[in-house]
Formats: sequence, C-alpha cells, structure tokens
Amino acid sequence: MSQNFDVVVIGGGPGGYIAAIRAAQLGFKVACIDEWKNAQGGPAPGGTCTNVGCIPSKALLQSSEHYEHAGKHFAEHGISVSGLGLDVAKMLGRKDQVVKQNNDGILYLFKKNKVSFFHGRGSFVKQAEGGWEIAVAGDKPETLVGKHVIVATGSNARALPGVPFDEERVLSNDGALRIPDVPKKLALIGSGVIGLEMGSVWRRLGAEVTVLEALPTFLGAVDEQIAKEAKKAFDKQGLKIELGVKVGEVKAGAKGVKIAYTNAKGEAQSLDVDRLIVSIGRVPNTNGLNTAAVGLQLDERGAIVVDADCRTNLANVWAVGDVVRGPMLAHKAEEEGVAVAERIAGQHGHVNFNTIPWVIYTHPEIAWVGRTEQQLKADGVKYKAGTFPFLANGRARALGDTTGMVKFLADAATDEILGVHIVGPMASELISEAVVAMEFRASSEDIARICHAHPSLSEATKEAALAVDKRTLNF
Ligand code: FAD
Ligand code: NAI
Repeated sequence: MSQNFDVVVIGGGPGGYIAAIRAAQLGFKVACIDEWKNAQGGPAPGGTCTNVGCIPSKALLQSSEHYEHAGKHFAEHGISVSGLGLDVAKMLGRKDQVVKQNNDGILYLFKKNKVSFFHGRGSFVKQAEGGWEIAVAGDKPETLVGKHVIVATGSNARALPGVPFDEERVLSNDGALRIPDVPKKLALIGSGVIGLEMGSVWRRLGAEVTVLEALPTFLGAVDEQIAKEAKKAFDKQGLKIELGVKVGEVKAGAKGVKIAYTNAKGEAQSLDVDRLIVSIGRVPNTNGLNTAAVGLQLDERGAIVVDADCRTNLANVWAVGDVVRGPMLAHKAEEEGVAVAERIAGQHGHVNFNTIPWVIYTHPEIAWVGRTEQQLKADGVKYKAGTFPFLANGRARALGDTTGMVKFLADAATDEILGVHIVGPMASELISEAVVAMEFRASSEDIARICHAHPSLSEATKEAALAVDKRTLNF
C-alpha cells in the first residue's frame, strides 16, 4: 500500500527540511525522506550541514579559538594561565553533542509542523496515478506517492583521482572533523573554504599545517584587497599556504601520507604528513535516486538541471540546494527550499542570487555580498570604493582584534551599493547589514546616515560607507 502526499521531499538537509516545513506551513500534506544515520544507526536529519559541515566545523572552530586565546592572547589582558591542557576527545564529544541537538531539533520541528519523516533512501520508481512513486529503502520499506517531489540530495566531497578517502589518513570533511588526536603534521589539498576553516582548527590545536593550492591566486573569488589582507593574517599565524602547486602522486600508508608535488617555480617537492585532508570542492549527489528510470536530466557535472525557479525537466519535480547549480551554501539551499514550497502553493517565492552572503569562518573572518572590485572592472562598471580599518574602531581595539577592514563598493553615478567585503572580527554578523541594504537597493549614503551603536564593530561599516565619499570621521 502506498501513502499519498501533496509533497514528498527527498533529502533532509537545509534545502530539504526547510522546504518540507514551509510546505507544511502552507497547508500541504508533506513527507520528508532522509537516509543519514547517527552512530547508533538512528535518524540524523540536517544533512551535510548539520552532521559533517557547517555546524560541527563551527563547533570545532569555536573550541580551537578558545584554546588559542587561552594560550596566546589571555596574557595581553593580564590573565595568566598555567597548566593549559587539551582534551581532544572531549572537544569532539562536545561537537557531537552540538550536532545531536540540531538533529533532535529538526525531528521536533517535523513533529510540530506535522511533516511525516521517513528514515531511509528515497528513489524514483515511476510516474503513477496521483504523482510520482517514490520507494523508501530503510528501517521500514515504504512506497510514497507525491503529487510534487522536491529533490534535495546535496553533495559529496570530491576525491583526488586515484586517491580514495579512507577517513584514516586521507580525509574528506567527514574525517577532518573527527581526527582523534592533534596530528604533528597535517596537509590540506585545496585552499578554499574547507581548507582554510579546517586548516585553522588543527593549526590552532598545535598541528603544523601546509595547504597546497593549485591556483596561483589566493581565494580568487574574494575581493583582491580583502584576500590579500586575509593571506597576510594567515601567514602571520603560521598557516603555510603554497599557491600554484601541481599535486602528483599521493601515497597513503599505515603511518602517514607522502605527497609529491611541483611548486609554483616548477620544482619537485615532497611532503610527509600524518594526515591529509582533501578539500578540492564537492560534487552533486544523485546516488541511488534512480534518476535514469524516470529520465530526470543531469548536466555534465552530475547536477540536476533546473530552471531559474528550480523546476526540473519532469512535471512537478523540483530540485534545490547543492544538487543543483549555484553556490553550495546552506542558506542558499534553504532559500530555494522556501521558494519552491511557495511556488507549489501558487505564490511567488523568489531567491535573489545577487544578495547571497558568503562567510569564511577563519580568524579573521571573511565575509562578502555582491560584486568584487575585480568583477566590477571586468564588467566595465564605474564605481567608488571606501574602506575603513578595524584598527581605527574603538570596539575592535577593546576586543584586541584589529586586523582587517570593511570595504564598500558603490555605483559611481547612483551611489547604489554594489558589493560589501569584510575581513575582520565578526564579519559573519556584520555582513547582514550589507545584505539588507543591498536587498533594499540602498546607497552608501543611506548607511552613512544611519545611527550605529557606539562602541560597536558595526561603526566600521558606517565609516566604510562614509569613506565612499571620502568623509570618514574616525580615520
Ligand atoms: P545536504 O545538506 O547535503 O543534505 C542532503 C541530505 O539528503 C543528506 O542528509 C543526505 O543523506 C540525504 N540524501 C541524499 N540522497 C538521498 C536519498 N536518495 N534518499 C534519502 N536521503 C538522501 N554552508 C554554509 O552556508 N555555511 C557554512 O558554514 C558551511 N560550512 C560547511 C562546512 C563543511 C565542512 C562542508 C562540507 C560544507 C559546509 N557548508 C556550509 C555547505 C553546506 O553544508 C551545504 O551547502 C548544505 O548542506 C547543502 O544543503 P542541501 O540540503 O542541498 O544538502
Ligand atoms: P572550494 O571550492 O571552496 O575550494 C576548493 C579549492 O581547491 C579551490 O581553491 C581549488 O582551486 C582547489 N583545488 C581544486 N583541485 C585541486 C587540486 N587538484 N590540487 C590543489 N588544489 C585544488 O571547495 P571546498 O573547500 O572543498 O568546499 C566545498 C564547498 O563547501 C565550498 O565551495 C562551499 O560552497 C562549501 N563550504 C562552505 C563553507 C562556508 O560557507 N563557511 C565552509 C565549508 C564549505
């Protein structure tokens, strides 16, 4: 016997679980299928983000930052610490608890919103009367029929060709978050978001970290001035980043990993490390979905092909999040999930790709929204730029955290904000003001005229807006 639903969501990550909740709020009968298992084999909804992504990485970033502060920065506040210790097992245990709280929270939200949750793998069977037949293989095999189906099956870590993840020595993001003891030497291949965040965690805890990056420029997608400032800070911290390398043979043994590569000068190099994290991007995941049976169209990268509204080539089948085009970010997946649920309800859900913020949770944090200076140049847009350093911000000085700046880019003629780029303390929180401003198509003058609390880091945002017209007050 099959169970019929208005909406069946496959995948319970940020794209899927949020789509399911929004659809239920709109009055639909909704099912959400997710296959993630916790250590006991039970359900662990929340996807990559909750289980092996956003949440656990931020838990470890926080713990490792505390450790570094206690060891290196408390002294300047007149606080002395003796006998500072590190219990990695406890740190990982705390991280697992944070993850569990999020898993449990989602199960609670499903109950609260009357979303039927199915633990197992969902796959397309066929188009049936009343919708799409979806088989659930799991604790209890089921057949569901969904008038609408939302696919939110996420992504998986990309492996180096010929170097599979063993999660012991060669680690994906999964293994990178549960290394049982601080490696003496750690390498990361790829200095993207994961490379920098996970490299920071293990460096702070005492590992000697080398990051090998293929591209000759550091963080090419980031505003050049901001990326340069961040690189300076990482260099100072001792995070060794080698750009323009070509990785050759990678040999993993019981004791460690040997990496052969050529450096930017073309010289052959060899690096011996205890563990290697491969963070060279992620691939859309449609494993086991049985897309071929129903003719769901994929592109050459394996992503599900969708239009601007997340419609696939099949009637009433939608796809959101990492499994489709666009940035692989949890909040982008969530926005798409909400928008699709609202479109199914006949509303006008929308996602503004121009105002999706990016954050890299290193220290200093890096955050941005909108276009970079190099993009504006390439697009031939005439712009004005204004920057304000945290060194001139009273709150940052009180915090002892003065690295970095806020940078505004505004249209030369209309003053509309085109991009805001931050490297510095709490950039992840500060960027929200810029997102709101851009969503409302504000000018830099608008921000410059708004009263900001003193002393606060947000005054640096106001001052950078003032700097666009060369009238900073505190610099
Ligand atoms: P996912 O979160 O991958 O969820 C997909 C779910 O579908 C999974 O639970 C999977 O088990 C399930 N599934 C797949 N196939 C099936 C099937 N056939 N049947 C049933 N279930 C299935 N993004 C941010 O915005 N901020 C961050 O700070 C951040 N940090 C990150 C840190 C790391 C280490 C990593 C790896 C990623 C990070 N991301 C971050 C990216 C973020 O995790 C993803 O963009 C986000 O999880 C995508 O959501 P999703 O719903 O599309 O897919
Ligand atoms: P990434 O795309 O951010 O970075 C991958 C890096 O690896 C690039 O710099 C690329 O040039 C490099 N690279 C690729 N192949 C290489 C090779 N063979 N040798 C050396 N370098 C190579 O991918 P990453 O870090 O794996 O993260 C995946 C995605 O997860 C991110 O793009 C992001 O969408 C998401 N994420 C988001 C976070 C956040 O929002 N704070 C945190 C972590 C991940």
